[in-house]
Amino acid sequence: MATNNDINDINDTTIPAFGLGTFRLKGQVVIDSVKNGLDVGYRVIDTAQIYGNEAEVGQAIAESGVARKDLFITTKIWTDNYAKDKLVPSLKDSLAKLRTDHVDLTLIHWPSPGNAVPVAEFMGALAEAKTLGLTKHIGVSNFNIALMKEAIAAVGAENIATNQIELHPYLQNRKVAEFAKSQGIHITSYMTLAYGKVIADPVIEAIAKAHNATTAQVTLAWAMQLGYAVIPSSTKRANLEGNLKAQQLKLSDAEMAQMAALDRDERLTDPAGLSPAWD
Ligand SMILES: NC(=O)c1ccc[n+]([C@@H]2O[C@H](COP(=O)([O-])OP(=O)(O)OC[C@H]3O[C@@H](n4cnc5c(N)ncnc54)[C@H](OP(=O)(O)O)[C@@H]3O)[C@@H](O)[C@H]2O)c1
Repeated sequence: MATNNDINDINDTTIPAFGLGTFRLKGQVVIDSVKNGLDVGYRVIDTAQIYGNEAEVGQAIAESGVARKDLFITTKIWTDNYAKDKLVPSLKDSLAKLRTDHVDLTLIHWPSPGNAVPVAEFMGALAEAKTLGLTKHIGVSNFNIALMKEAIAAVGAENIATNQIELHPYLQNRKVAEFAKSQGIHITSYMTLAYGKVIADPVIEAIAKAHNATTAQVTLAWAMQLGYAVIPSSTKRANLEGNLKAQQLKLSDAEMAQMAALDRDERLTDPAGLSPAWD
């Protein structure tokens, strides 16, 4: 029988610490970003049905020459596809676009608007996708604690690899992160750079200067040091390359405390009709 420690161990290695985001990037821009990312060493790609770029991500991967077995690909199911007869067919469409027979991780992108599809129904369909071998792992995104509890009741915490949430120095989301940790569920931080807002932060600049690093590297290192996975995006090869090097940076306890003090509950992604009651 799995103990909590076992679950932690499994999930700690299930979600890679560093990946490439693709939100907002379309057409040739996403093809170039993914190709540059793979070329400089990224092996983890985060996309979603609603991003409208799965086919271009698939094209970039195919043209990169990187073997599928060396990649970790995440997609997210859009809210229109949560019903039990729609989720698996929609994931099969995503796989065709991505030119693969399975993804590594499939997430429920947002809570079902107006609770139109019950949590137990879409988590059950997601678990079925895993049983069918269409995805190695399953998880959720933008779930508050109450919704995480419902998802856990539906499929068990050991089957929920991650909750992908907005988390950056200005929105540290500690309640959700602590609850997830207590359940052995990994946190993936999205918008770790607060979509570029943290780049000019004076506190982060001072820490960066002390390490001869960039503010982006400091921010990404801070999140990884807290145990979160990160998936920053960039359209620039130099930024992609620099961000990846955050994995080599270690902040001191004092620097981590300075970063912790930057929290100001500043949420950047709060779409009406999709957002749950945030914790
Ligand atoms: N689950 C969800 O609901 C959800 C929501 C939002 C995002 N996400 C995922 O999380 C990923 C990351 O979030 P995000 O792309 O919105 O924001 P982000 O990674 O926080 O920030 C990306 C922005 O930062 C800039 N940037 C990146 N590296 C930089 C550097 N070294 N120096 C200066 N600027 C830099 C980029 O500009 P340049 O292109 O000029 O480098 C871009 O404008 C997304 O791509 C997506 O995959 C998921």
